[in-house]
Amino acid sequence: MNFKSLLRRLTNRSGASVVPPLLTTLRPPDLSPTQPLDPTLAREIRRSFDEASQDEEHFPSTIDPRILHVQKLLKYFGDLTDRRVLDVGCGKGRFARVLQEQNPGAKIVGLDISEDMLAGVPASVGKVSALMTELPFAAASFDCVYATESLEHAVEIDKAVAEMCRVLKPGGKLVIIDKNVEHWGRFKTPAWERWFERGELERLLRRDCASVHSEFLSYWEDVAPDGLFLIWFALR
Ligand SMILES: C[S@@+](CC[C@H](N)C(=O)[O-])C[C@H]1O[C@@H](n2cnc3c(N)ncnc32)[C@H](O)[C@@H]1O
Repeated sequence: MNFKSLLRRLTNRSGASVVPPLLTTLRPPDLSPTQPLDPTLAREIRRSFDEASQDEEHFPSTIDPRILHVQKLLKYFGDLTDRRVLDVGCGKGRFARVLQEQNPGAKIVGLDISEDMLAGVPASVGKVSALMTELPFAAASFDCVYATESLEHAVEIDKAVAEMCRVLKPGGKLVIIDKNVEHWGRFKTPAWERWFERGELERLLRRDCASVHSEFLSYWEDVAPDGLFLIWFALR
């Protein structure tokens, strides 16, 4: 596959529609949940992603390590030898796969609501099926935590951010890659999805993290960001 078709594929994937009956583009996005993440909604989200796991085109299990989304993570985290790393909403583990390959001494765990997604995670990476709003880990148990295009599905966004910060060690690093609310409506989205205002998520992160900043993100070094993706960096 050449670069153009890969880029096209990734662009499609980033706006992936999941299950047609659940789609809406009309609801104005904000971070307060329109409904709690109760067992019924959690079941609906899990079922949707179990089904989506069969769609390798829109939910791929690999990613080109040269893509900036990966490069930014690798650079910010640095050497991960003997470090514990948590991929929150890991899907099939396309990011964890690269991090593990480039850091064989790292202990990487992928967490996801969907066991069918987790089935695609490589054997070298740990797997945990759980909600990102109730991380089944002790406080201060990870050196690095990241969430790529998954926080948008958390429903209770502030709770998920608080959980990611809770499991980080003091001095630990957190990265979130997700979509900019200014581009809301660009793709069809399931009813529970939220996109983020840059400053709004920075403020949530600052409740628990000392140093927080964000920037726009494109796929490639030589392509200017179009504003769809943002990356937030935080230090506990
Ligand atoms: C768009 S996919 C992104 C997957 C992966 N991070 C990537 O970039 O390839 C979103 C993932 O978040 C997971 N997810 C959705 N809601 C979740 C929740 N409340 N807790 C944990 N995982 C969740 C889905 O099952 C899905 O695998």
